Order: sequence, then structure tokens, then C-alpha cells
Amino acid sequence: MDNEYELELRGITKRFGGTVANHNVNLSVKKGEVHALVGENGAGKSTLMNILYGMLQPDEGEIVYKGKPVSIASPRDAIALGIGMVHQHFMLSPTLTVGENIVLGHPPSKSWRWKPAELEKQIELLKSDFEIDVPLNVKVQDLTVGLMQRVEIIKTLYRGAKVIILDEPTAVLTPQETAGLFQTIRKLTQAGHTVIFISHKLREVMEISDRITTLRGGKTIGTANKCDVTSRDVAQMMIGREITGLTREKSHTGEAALLVSDLTVAGDQDTIEVNSISFEVHQGEILGVAGVEGNGQTELAEALVGMRKPLSGKIEMLGKDITREKVGKRLAGGMAHIPQDRLKEGIAAELSLTENLIVGRHKSQPLSKYGVINWKEADLVSQKLIETYDIKTSSAREHCRNLSGGNMQKVIVARELSRGPKVIVACQPTRGVDIGASEYIRQMLLNLRDEGNAVLLISADLDEVMELSDRIMVMYEGKKSGEMTSEEANEEALGRMMFGLAEEKKEVAQ
Ligand SMILES: Nc1ncnc2c1ncn2[C@@H]1O[C@H](COP(=O)(O)OP(=O)(O)OP(=O)(O)O)[C@@H](O)[C@H]1O
Ligand SMILES: [Mg+2]
Repeated sequence: MDNEYELELRGITKRFGGTVANHNVNLSVKKGEVHALVGENGAGKSTLMNILYGMLQPDEGEIVYKGKPVSIASPRDAIALGIGMVHQHFMLSPTLTVGENIVLGHPPSKSWRWKPAELEKQIELLKSDFEIDVPLNVKVQDLTVGLMQRVEIIKTLYRGAKVIILDEPTAVLTPQETAGLFQTIRKLTQAGHTVIFISHKLREVMEISDRITTLRGGKTIGTANKCDVTSRDVAQMMIGREITGLTREKSHTGEAALLVSDLTVAGDQDTIEVNSISFEVHQGEILGVAGVEGNGQTELAEALVGMRKPLSGKIEMLGKDITREKVGKRLAGGMAHIPQDRLKEGIAAELSLTENLIVGRHKSQPLSKYGVINWKEADLVSQKLIETYDIKTSSAREHCRNLSGGNMQKVIVARELSRGPKVIVACQPTRGVDIGASEYIRQMLLNLRDEGNAVLLISADLDEVMELSDRIMVMYEGKKSGEMTSEEANEEALGRMMFGLAEEKKEVAQ
């Protein structure tokens, strides 16, 4: 049948120098379906979608839309055809308002006059049709990532998108926000829109998609109906092997390696974000911090690593008061930091992999002698990390900006965990990382703990927190709203604490 598919990518090949990011890839998408595109970090998903959206030109292959071959030379062409995309790394203008971002480059009507009221009416309609709630007059920089993403979606809809590409939309979302997004996706497909959905989270893929296409190493592995496969099958298709599961030894905890007393930290707007919090992380222990994003976790991590000055309180690491120490000194003293925002804080995108991988130890032996970097040694170190963490790149000299999202994350984790840290502050360590590599990173954290180091794990992924932590502390409105051992913890109890409901429950139970 000719028009069974709304959209077909046929035989797409895309090369970047020596890397073949897409190799004769085929993808056929039906109207009104949610089509999941899955595969390892660097498999070529974003590249393929950037080709469909006109950001990249394929070296070979064709795109057929509504039965006709089309040429998509730019996003403008894609938008004109009704194809919209929300990128893995958002592309909004932070200093403009939500409303301005939505109409940017696409004025509300054919008339030359700017009619804010008309614009607002149109957007309000879209908002209610698809259950998306965003304030229009707030600057984008003041939004949470969850809200930014809603802006991106409204923006594509406002431009008339019928096919909407969502590149890892849930990587930065809380479970509650993901549920909201799925609600929106369902409304979209009910209204006849088509959604291409990229995610590394199997649970989500199994929940939302109708069909699933897997890429591996730039090639199409196949397309399956969701109802014909199990999540194990999908995992197998993604990484080409079974996931083995973690080995978790019993913990042997020692002294407090990180001791936090009465820590109070203000946020960017001078509001109190961490409110007199006290806790300790012992040697040989993973303390998980659970909580809905925006309850002080970010500010807490920033204060711990020295990026944000606390208003009051004390931080001790390995018996030493480090409250006033600079970031560099803390890192040299044995702290490692996996930051939440990889592009802003974790990586220098314009530098090479090698440079990014050795930062932090480039001033000491054997990487440096008399203040001069030994590049031969540096290349050896980075080559080894690229192999052990399976970072997909054509060369250690490649700029980090050319890595796929998940591979950037692997660079940060590899650097931080290989420096021989004693105290690890890990924020969303597996965000955007494929299931095989996530498992590896989690195992590394467990190994570091088994070697007697202390890990503070801040993660919005409750499954991850429960799987790794020995103890779990829940944060709500800047305070500790509860604490549990991993044996006591379950999703429901943690969920209650995450919404500050733990106290009430206790009273009812008594
Ligand atoms: N501009 C570029 N220059 C050089 N190589 C690139 C460029 N863009 C992508 N690549 C390479 O192409 C391959 C595919 O990358 P792509 O971003 O499509 O992967 P992905 O499947 O989206 O991975 P992830 O799950 O990590 O986001 C990677 O090896 C990447 O390093
Ligand atoms: Mg990608």
C-alpha cells in the first residue's frame, strides 16, 4: 500500500569525516502513531532526526512525506511541511519571555501588525487542547527545565507541526512531569498528530509507543510493534546483548567522610533554597537524595562542591572544614563532581576529548612535569577512558561538541570517577545515558563505595536512587522531609515524603 506511511526515510546515510553516523537507515512512520526511536549513545538517532528537520543534509537517501519525495534543506522547509522538533539540548532564548520565544521567527498573523491579544488567544487554545500549561509573560531563564520543554512543544504546535520529533524529552523531567508530557502526547495523537519519541528509558518506551525502531552503530536493526515485544527484547535490540544487572555487596560503612551541619543556602533569586540541613555520608556508603526537582537539591550540590557560597552552616570533608574552600581545592582534596547540567558546567564543548578527560589532574605527575603537559601521556590516559567507558568517537582529538548527548555525559563521568575521588557528589549521573552504559556507571559508583569512598547521589530517577543507595534522604522545600534505609524504601513512601506528606501520614498511622 502506497500511503500506509505518513513519512518515510529511505536509505539515509550521513558521514562526519570518518564517522558514519547513519548508514543506509530506513524509518517508516504511520500517521497518528507514537514511534519510538531507540538505540545506544551515538547510534545515530539525533543525526537522523536532524536530517528530517532539515538541520543536516544526508549524503545519500530520500525523505518521502505523504507519499511524495521532499527536499528539506532547512528547518524552515521542515516547518512548512508540518514537521517540528524539540531538541535534546533546548534552543530557546533565555532572556526573552515565553510568548516571545513562541512567536520568534514566526509572527502570529499575516498582517504586519503585532497583535499580542490575538497571539495569546491562539496559544491559549493550543494550551487547553493539549493540556500544556505555561505562563506567557515569564522570561525563559526563570523557568524549570520541565516548563522550558513545554514551551518548546507549544512552539512547534504554534508553527503548525503535525509530525513532532521529541529528542529525549524525558531525560530532564521528573516522573510527574513525564506523566504530564505523556498526557500531552496522547492528546496529540488523538488529534491526528504523529510523534517520534526518543528515549533511553525502557519503561517509557513500553508505555507510550505504538511501534519501536532500533538503531545500532548507525544502522537500522528493525521495527517492532510494541505489543509484540517485551522490554527485555527491546533492551536486547538496543545494546545487542542482555543486561546483566548490578552486583551489590553488603555495605561496610566507616567514618563520616562528608559531614554537613545546619547548611543554609540561597538560590539565584536570594530565596532560601536549602534550609538548615544536616546529614552525613560515611565511607563505604551511598546516600541517595530523592526529591522533586527544585526542592533545593541543585543548590545543595553547588554548595557542597563550592560553586555556591552558603549563608550559614558547615561542610566537613574527611575531617576537615571545607566550608570556605574554593572548588579547585575541594576537588584536589578528594571530591568528585558530576554536575547536573553537562553543557553548562561539566564539559568544555570546544575542547577535545583528551583535554576534557584530563582536566583536574593535568597539573600533576605523570600528566605534567615542570608545568608542561605531557600530551603523549594525556593521550594514553584518555584513550584508556574512552575504551573503558565505551565513549563513541572517531578520535580523542575530536571536539566534545561533536559527541552525542550521552557520550558527553560519559566523558564527565569517566573523568570524575577516574581521578581517585574519596567523596563523590553525583547529580543525575546517568541522565541521557543508554541502558548498557548506565549500568556500567552505576556499577562504578557501587565499586567506589565498596572501596570505602562516600557517594552522595542526587537523582530524579527514583529507580536509580533505590537501586544504588544504602540510605535515602528526601528533600522537600529545602529541608529534609524524611530518611529511610534502602530496605525500608519503596516508591510510595518516598513519593509521600517528596511531597512533604510524611508527617501527616505518621499521625494518621498512630
Ligand atoms: N557534527 C558532528 N561532527 C562529527 N561527528 C558527529 C557530529 N554529530 C554527530 N556526530 C557523531 O555521530 C554519531 C551519532 O551521533 P548522534 O548524536 O546521532 O547519536 P544519538 O543516537 O543521538 O546518541 P545519544 O543517545 O547519546 O544522544 C556519534 O558518533 C557522534 O559523535
Ligand atoms: Mg541524541
